[in-house]
Amino acid sequence: MKALILSGGAGTRLRPLTFTNAKQLLPLANKPILFHIIEKLVKAGLRDVGIIVGDTREEVEKTVGNGDRWDVKIRYIHQPAPLGLAHAVKTASGFIGDNDFLMVLGDNVFSMELDALIKNFHSDRANSSLLLHRVDNPSQYGVAVVENAHIKRLVEKPREFISDLIITGVYVFDKSIFEAIDSIPPSPRGELEITDAIQKQLETGGRVTYGIIQGWWKDTGSLRDILEANRLILDEIDCDNKTLPKGDSEITGKILAGKNVVVKNSTIMGPVAIADDTMITNSFIGPYASIGRSARLNDCEVDNCIILENTRIDSIPRRISGSLIGRNVQIVSTRKRPHSNTFLVGDNSEIYL
Ligand code: DAU
Repeated sequence: MKALILSGGAGTRLRPLTFTNAKQLLPLANKPILFHIIEKLVKAGLRDVGIIVGDTREEVEKTVGNGDRWDVKIRYIHQPAPLGLAHAVKTASGFIGDNDFLMVLGDNVFSMELDALIKNFHSDRANSSLLLHRVDNPSQYGVAVVENAHIKRLVEKPREFISDLIITGVYVFDKSIFEAIDSIPPSPRGELEITDAIQKQLETGGRVTYGIIQGWWKDTGSLRDILEANRLILDEIDCDNKTLPKGDSEITGKILAGKNVVVKNSTIMGPVAIADDTMITNSFIGPYASIGRSARLNDCEVDNCIILENTRIDSIPRRISGSLIGRNVQIVSTRKRPHSNTFLVGDNSEIYL
């Protein structure tokens, strides 16, 4: 079985960060989302991976590489425009050939392993198999109407409530999906929807089965979701804080620390991830902070945040919380008069003081 990850498309909802960066590369517990997905594929025994890339292809290819670090083979497939998930699958037809394949959307993270889904796909002799999840607000997703343990209908982002079981973005297909894709028109949002292609399979007698997500699942489309995904992953890190030199600092809870981390006169309360070459002085780092490489944090309090590499935070009197802070950012209090706030921020930034 092959694997396909969809990492094309435009990440408009996380602007301004995703103007320059692929949203699928945003780090959770200091590891890009795509790495979390690839690790799940590897654990399920899949070693032949195609990644759909769009405008951010260079950055994705540079960060993910050829797969050697996981001992998998990675092939990049360029989708010239984000014309829909089914269009992305069609673009990958040369890579897939006649094989069955497992597909994961590149902005999804989840805790469960994928072995059972693959096993059931084979034993049910399914044409398509999906992972579903019950949510309170299903309107922004594809949803499945299930009766007597059978999928009856699939609708992409229904206007009216028809089910609270949503399609999570983890699928297994056989080659019949290509025929279904060829027989659907673009949706009202102008995309070829994979949901419509699977609905077409249902209508033409195809066998569509499903599993239910075990554990947690997140689509990291918004700031709130990405911070929550970061918290969920930090909750699961499997390490203690022995690697971090304690010195005069108080360090408790699980700390995922990189190399050359310096901590002085600070309190760190896990779960927290701190990447290589970071320096933390006179500060409080509270639960659910992920701090990127070479960051400098002095005289500040930070919790429930994702801070990217090479950022400096210095002498900030109020706690920084619930924030996603990009690369090479400086948030510094100056003591010069007149006392004023000075900003050099890009378009679509958000600052709450
Ligand atoms: O997250 C689950 C939802 O994902 C499902 O419930 C929906 O049925 C499914 O259509 C999808 O909806 P979204 O609107 O959230 O999909 P989005 O446009 O965010 O794209 C998902 C991923 O696929 C993302 O990593 C970008 C990539 N993509 C997207 C498009 C439209 C591509 O690679 N090519 C594309 O043409």
